Amino acid sequence: MDALVALVARDMQRVNETILSRTGSDVTMIPEVANHLISSGGKRLRPMLTLASAAHFGYPGDGHVKLAASVEFMHTATLLHDDVVDESDMRRGKPAARMVWGNQASVLVGDFLLGQAFKMMVETGSLECLGILSHAAAVIAEGEVMQLAAAKDLNTEEATYLAVIEAKTAALFAAAAEVGPVIADAPAAEREAFRLYGLYLGLAFQLVDDALDYGGQSGQLGKKVGDDFREGKITLPVITAFRAGDVAERAFWKRCIEEGQIADGDLEHALRLLEKHDAIAVTIARAHDYGDRARAALAALAPTPQRDALIEVVGFSIARAY
Ligand code: IPE
Ligand code: IPE
Ligand code: MG
Ligand code: MG
Repeated sequence: MDALVALVARDMQRVNETILSRTGSDVTMIPEVANHLISSGGKRLRPMLTLASAAHFGYPGDGHVKLAASVEFMHTATLLHDDVVDESDMRRGKPAARMVWGNQASVLVGDFLLGQAFKMMVETGSLECLGILSHAAAVIAEGEVMQLAAAKDLNTEEATYLAVIEAKTAALFAAAAEVGPVIADAPAAEREAFRLYGLYLGLAFQLVDDALDYGGQSGQLGKKVGDDFREGKITLPVITAFRAGDVAERAFWKRCIEEGQIADGDLEHALRLLEKHDAIAVTIARAHDYGDRARAALAALAPTPQRDALIEVVGFSIARAY
């Protein structure tokens, strides 16, 4: 990721200043909650897509900084909301905002950040970017609701899972990568190349996230391993192991995921079953397939340091441990 980070470093400095200045409010709980999450960092991957894709076209203005800040605000808002929905305790190595200020404050401050994001989009004057990002905001919410409807259902089709991760995660990656070229007034075919790049990168990214929820280390991830298991979330590792499992194994998954009856040692047993059926490897292999498609989407574009760094970050997104 180093090449991309270095290329966008100056713009990212401005994005971070913008983010900090836009969390301000006389209602003191708002900056408290927002800064709790924002100051703990995060990879800032999505805003980097916006900055680098605009710079690829030599964009001379500063609209991409506001768009990148909007994208990160949308992401931050979805994290605040997502931790409430998922009942997660930990985020970016700290207690989730909901553990400190409660679910209600987390939802409302997330709404505030979404509102701030849209104000910044309007300030860029690009109706097209506003259209792309507001569409993504609706699709993300749809994805989270779709996921809620599929929760605890072990008969969920792989296609449904893919539709969920495309909506809840890949849609924002796609929009982040598309608004850079759009604000830079790039030709339609090249905008589409960046959109597809973001879409495939986002799919790969969420597949890896779902693998890390079982196979990762909490200390590195900054989130609790096993959250998806405890809440009965249907992800590709579980779908894969359940399908391949014998009668006793399927009964185990039904008790844990469908009935939510989880005892000490069950997560460890689940990990053994995932290992037995190569379910994490299958998930990572799928991420590699989408990673290849992400790289291919940019292959025909003029080579620039930005394009090359975006191609390179695909490998990081798959090999990452956090
Ligand atoms: C977490 O995204 C939510 C998912 C879509 C998996 P990131 O892993 O990009 O979170 P931060 O911003 O780096 O904390
Ligand atoms: C992330 O899905 C999707 C959004 C934040 C919209 P997850 O629920 O898997 O993300 P983490 O694991 O909590 O970061
Ligand atoms: Mg979650
Ligand atoms: Mg997750």
